[in-house]
Amino acid sequence: MTKSNLNATARHILEANDRGGYTVPNGRVYPFQWNWDSAFVALGFDRFDRNRAWTEIETLFRAQWDDGFLPHIVFWKDDPGYFPGPAVWGTAKNPVTSGITQPPVAASVVRKLWESARETPDAGTYVQRLQALFPKLLAWHRWFHQYRDPDRRGIVVAVHPWETGRDNSPEWDAPGEAIDVSGVGDYVRRDTSHLDAKMRPTKLEYDRYLALVQFGRATHWDHARIAAENPFRVADVGMSMILLRANRDLAALADELGKTDEGAEIRSWIDLAERGVGWLWNGEVQAWCSRDLQTGRSSGFITSASFLGFYAGLSDAKRDAAMRGHFDRIAGMVDFMMPSLDPADPGFQMIRYWRGPVWAVVNYMIGTGLYEAGDAMRAERVRGDTLALMEQNGFYEAYSPIDGTGSGGDDFSWTAAIWLAWAGGEQRT
Ligand code: GLC
Repeated sequence: MTKSNLNATARHILEANDRGGYTVPNGRVYPFQWNWDSAFVALGFDRFDRNRAWTEIETLFRAQWDDGFLPHIVFWKDDPGYFPGPAVWGTAKNPVTSGITQPPVAASVVRKLWESARETPDAGTYVQRLQALFPKLLAWHRWFHQYRDPDRRGIVVAVHPWETGRDNSPEWDAPGEAIDVSGVGDYVRRDTSHLDAKMRPTKLEYDRYLALVQFGRATHWDHARIAAENPFRVADVGMSMILLRANRDLAALADELGKTDEGAEIRSWIDLAERGVGWLWNGEVQAWCSRDLQTGRSSGFITSASFLGFYAGLSDAKRDAAMRGHFDRIAGMVDFMMPSLDPADPGFQMIRYWRGPVWAVVNYMIGTGLYEAGDAMRAERVRGDTLALMEQNGFYEAYSPIDGTGSGGDDFSWTAAIWLAWAGGEQRT
């Protein structure tokens, strides 16, 4: 397909998945609003409909809880084709939402949206929308620092694999063993009726996911209790890097709006993270890895999230050189960067969720970080591979790093958005 055809297809996917103010990741498999999907989707909309881009984020924040928490799914309308649906989560909120969160990319996206709106005749309207969103973004980040960083290291502790957005990563296997699944009971999965079971989590993994939902629900989604007692507590390297980056972007927005006190508060979180994030460096494998809070053990897995240190704005000559070494080694093993798991790992599977496939949104963050770190060569490898995957295969949820085959859902919103905003680089019309 030509570039202009791909632009049209990508736009069409976003329009077709638009449910009126929010976009579903994929109509069949994911029929609700997802948190970080919506943020990335806004970047895509911004290339052809600025107002709609901002609305996507505003709709998401309409589901924010009073304590600042922003849920990973908003069930604006029920859909019997999805499990676990609103009744299983039982959060008793209006709108009904899940009780866990997702990687905080929204502030970074809002900064991008604002930078593209700032120089236009409509800047006055958008600065008002920015002013309305800013306290909500700040409240969410405060929530992370209050509830999800118990040792004050500036990192993010995930209480469910689904929070990390890398649902089925092997990083959660060992910490997941602590989860008691004996009381989970019977249930019918829906994911495997839409998608090939070979791509999806196993029954044991799914039991663990549900046991955690049941645990949260039994606390009535009391975030303090969940933070203290949840059977799964893992410092996620992905969310930690993403929050650090998002705090830098939020601080820039605070400056833009003249919010000095808020800016100072956000910068204190950045300082904390710059001092504390080294706890996630695994000296043995020489990479950034997640770490189980309960056992103190580092996962030792090199995943796509390991490469987000550049995106977080971290710089350390030795660590950066080690990560570049891993990059080059992996780049020599696959046709398409960046696999979600190191292909040298015996558990690498080219189509199973988060154990091999490439996600365009992760590539966008890795590529952006590399560009900003001055590594245009590796950044271009990531962006060029992302573009080739989409040109050759269309807009899938994820792709095999070996042969580019699409996996998961097709006509996928955030993949189309990344084409428009980054990989395909459509000009604003
Ligand atoms: C899968 C992904 C998650 C994403 C969701 C919707 O669950 O692991 O990151 O938000 O799909 O696209």
